[in-house]
Amino acid sequence: MSDTLRLAVIIASVRNGRFGPVVANWFADRARQHGAFEVDVIDLAEMELPHQLPALPPRMEPNPARPTGMTDLTARLGRADAMVIVTPDINASYPAELKTAIDWHFTEWDRKTIGFVGYSGASGGLNAIAHLRQIFGELNAHAIRDYVSFPRYYELFDADGNLLEPSGPEGAAQDMLDQLHWWAGALASARVSA
Ligand SMILES: Cc1cc2nc3c(=O)[nH]c(=O)nc-3n(C[C@H](O)[C@H](O)[C@H](O)COP(=O)(O)O)c2cc1C
Repeated sequence: MSDTLRLAVIIASVRNGRFGPVVANWFADRARQHGAFEVDVIDLAEMELPHQLPALPPRMEPNPARPTGMTDLTARLGRADAMVIVTPDINASYPAELKTAIDWHFTEWDRKTIGFVGYSGASGGLNAIAHLRQIFGELNAHAIRDYVSFPRYYELFDADGNLLEPSGPEGAAQDMLDQLHWWAGALASARVSA
């Protein structure tokens, strides 16, 4: 196993005019500066995500035939040791396209490490994060405790996508990345020896 762990940063919102890439790029920069991860930013807006799911449940068919436009997503999730989901709250939960991307995959999440960065209005993505924790338990993934949250994100970033007061969020990201690294390393070793 290589010492560098592979981290996929997933942009969950596919909306026109979305803010998600600003938050995801900020976090991806933090992860690169952390130094322990090879970072891959996955934009769900670039993926084919049909809402009609495979005919068989994943325990019966963990690798169903997938649309051609999903091949890249599946390969990149499969390569990742850890995933960080960058999500807004949408009606007190996460975007539907993210659920579709999750549900089309199974082994790609299995025994992997998951972290969250939330942003939105007053709730800062915390409702989405709470729901996602439940889902990743079902997928046999480990969701780490620490997270980064941006309530009223529109008051926190300037027009160039830079944080007006970066020290708090940078500290939260560092703590989260340290925790993510510990779990991702432990689970990567355990997957190899299993
Ligand atoms: C349909 C819809 C529902 C929303 N529901 C919530 C919500 O429940 N709580 C909240 O804080 N913000 C809510 N928002 C605000 C979004 O979090 C905010 O628009 C955010 O920018 C969405 O992320 P995006 O710009 O990357 O798509 C909602 C936005 C939309 C479009």
